[in-house]
This record gives sequence, C-alpha cells and structure tokens, in this order.
Amino acid sequence: MLGNFTYCNPTKLYFGKDALNGLKEELPKYGKRVLLVYGGGSIKKNGIYSRVLEILQACGKHVSEDAGVMPNPTVDKVYEGIARAKEAKADLILAVGGGSVCDYAKAVSVSVNCKEDFWDKYFVRGEEPDCETIPVGCVLTMVGTGSEMNGGSVITNRAQKRKYGHVFGSDFYPKFSILNPEFTFTVPKYQMVSGIYDIMSHILEQYFSDTDDNTSDYIMEGLLRSLIHSAEIAVQDATNYEARSNLMWTATWALNTFIAKGKSTDWNVHSLGQALAAYTDATHGMTLAAVSMPYYRLILPYGLEKFKRYAIHVWGVSPDGKSDETIAREGLAAMEAWMRKIGLVMNITDLGGKRELVEGYVEATRDREGGYKTLTDQDIRDIFQASF
Ligand code: NZQ
Ligand code: ZN
Repeated sequence: MLGNFTYCNPTKLYFGKDALNGLKEELPKYGKRVLLVYGGGSIKKNGIYSRVLEILQACGKHVSEDAGVMPNPTVDKVYEGIARAKEAKADLILAVGGGSVCDYAKAVSVSVNCKEDFWDKYFVRGEEPDCETIPVGCVLTMVGTGSEMNGGSVITNRAQKRKYGHVFGSDFYPKFSILNPEFTFTVPKYQMVSGIYDIMSHILEQYFSDTDDNTSDYIMEGLLRSLIHSAEIAVQDATNYEARSNLMWTATWALNTFIAKGKSTDWNVHSLGQALAAYTDATHGMTLAAVSMPYYRLILPYGLEKFKRYAIHVWGVSPDGKSDETIAREGLAAMEAWMRKIGLVMNITDLGGKRELVEGYVEATRDREGGYKTLTDQDIRDIFQASF
C-alpha cells in the first residue's frame, strides 16, 4: 500500500543537444554576480567551459571562479568555497561538472551564511538551513548521482574519516539543470561505468524495500531494464547519443525522490560504500559495486519474494520448475555477470581496502536500517570481509 506523501520537485530541467540555451533563459532571473564552480579541468579540455563562459558574458554577468572541486569533495574545500562565495558576493552559484561539483555547490550555498559549523549542523546532525542561501544552477557533465534534481550533498571529512550525505529539502535543490547527453561523451570509461552502477544502486536501494505491489516498483523495473540495455551500448560506443541520453534521463529519475514515494527505502549499500570511501577516497559507484553482491546475498533470504520478482521482471530468469530461492539467486548471478561485463570493480582490494581497517569501516557505516534486514556490526564486518 502506498503511504501518505507530499511530492514537489522544483528543479527546472533543460534536456537535449540544445539544452545549454536554457542558460540564456535562466541567467536573467538572478543578480549580476555568478560564482562559476568546476572540477579539475575536464570542462576546459572538452570546450564546455568556454561555451558556458560565453553565455555568462553575453548575459552581462560578473564571473568569479572556484575551480578544483575534487571527486568526493572535502570539508576543507567547502570552507574554501564559502570564502570565495563571500568574497564574490555571489547571487548565483553555477556548478559545471558531475555530482561532486553539484553537491559541493549545494554545500557552499547553504553554508555561506550559516552561523554554526556547516559539517556538524548539516552532515552530522542532519539539520536544515535556517539562514539565507545562494541559489544553485547546474550544467551536468557526467551522469550517475541525480544531484542535478535533488537536495543531496555528500561531503568527506578526511580528518574524521567520515563521508556523510545530507538530503536538503526542496527549497535547496538546484533551481535549474542543463542536461546535454553530448557533454558526457568525454567521460573516461572508468568514471562512466561507475556512474552507471551508481544509477543502478539508487534504484535497487529503493526497490529492495517493502514487499507490497507498489506502482513505484513497476516504474523501477522499467528504469532498470532501460539502464541495463543502454549501459551495454554506451560502454561499447562512447558517443552513442541514444544510449547516453537514456542513461542521463534514467539517472535523474533514479534519485529525484519520485520513485521513493510510498517506499521505506534501503540505503545500506550507500552507507557501506561511503564508509569505505571515507578511508580510501575511491570512486563512488565502484565502492557500491564492490560491496553489493555480499550485501544482497546476505539479505536475500529476508526479502525472497522481491528478489524472485527482480530476477523474473528485470533479468528475464525463467521461473519454470525452480524453487523461489533458485530463481532469486539466478537473478543475482545475472546481475553479477552484467556488472563484470561492463567493467565494474567487484572487490574492495582493488579500491585500496585493507583487512586491518575493517573495524574502522564498520564504525564509519552510518545507516543500518530500511532494508530487509537491520544490519548488525557483525553483518557489516562479514560484508566487508566478503568484499576483499
Ligand atoms: O574534475 P574534472 O576534471 O571535471 O573530472 C571529473 C572527475 O574527475 C570527471 N568528469 C566529469 N565530467 C566529465 C569528466 N571528465 C571528462 N568529461 C566530462 N564530461 O569525472 C570525475 C568524477 O566526477 P564526479 O563529479 O566526482 O562524479 P560523480 O558524478 O559520480 O559524483 C560523485 C559524487 O557525488 C556523490 C558521491 O558520493 C560523490 O561524492 N553523490 C551524490 C548524490 C546526491 N547528490 O544525491 C547521491 C550519490 O549517491 C552520491 O553519493
Ligand atoms: Zn550514489
């Protein structure tokens, strides 16, 4: 049964080959000063930077820059961003990049006028902003996180060895996002495959919760089938527009709160992956891939009906003459084969994980509820041990 919910997603999207024209429509809505935020320089190599700058200048904006946002953005970088945004007196923060740049822009936006330490307030205590914030817009250059249309922001505290996310309310979503699938053509294969699994994990961590016959589950099965199909094409052919556009659109819908409606949702794979990343700084989607199979095999007996449905509806497993458990396990085996085929990292050793640090990973794993089994410390230890 669908529970009660409110649904509001205020982010305006511009999608397709001409999406950047949307920037010309959006920029006049904000003041003159724009803080242009980006990562390590990919946008300069692929020409997106100069195209964006040209539009900013044509719209008469005064542009300040905050470059060098790293994958898995850190607390220290956010402090730097707060200083830059203040100095620039920014009326708009324009994030041009992937999830890290977009998450970082949101973190800076809500922290510029925050009277307390932003890490403690938002990321440790999970509070909402009660200060003035700066609007954020996004030009997305890689797919996966869904950050372009949600309130999520994930920040890493290297000193504390914690990677925590906070999902801000809809007032703090990007006001607009530009989604041109062509902008993702230059994403390196490792990053792209990682992003593909991030999308899959977002869907699965909402799908594998509750046992009812929920409309959201049917939507998710459709999204998963499109993802599996398009991912294989995109891995073979980096400039296949149809595959890239399907991936981009699926990523957005996987985590813009829509499919979570009426679901309790399970974020344990993300919690495990973030604990690992807090120590290793490994690429987000890869951390999820590396712990997923041990996690799903552990919880399968507690959600058998759903794993069986997943095997049949998503992976096309034939149920004829088989026990529920056999069907469910065949579904996971098909998923694992697909993961290996597209080139995901399937163990934490390759991501820099170390057996002697497992107790640290267990402590850094924050969410343990929501899935078919509430995870104990021993469960988490077992999952990490099985992931080497
Ligand atoms: O820094 P540059 O030089 O731009 O290179 C980036 C970066 O090295 C490169 N890249 C991006 N677009 C490119 C490109 N290279 C060539 N051509 C392009 N068009 O890709 C690298 C990775 O970028 P990043 O932004 O880190 O990737 P992603 O989009 O996967 O973001 C990961 C971050 O998002 C968080 C993750 O934890 C991680 O910190 N997440 C955010 C979520 C949210 N807001 O809701 C949810 C997710 O579960 C996730 O946790
Ligand atoms: Zn994710």
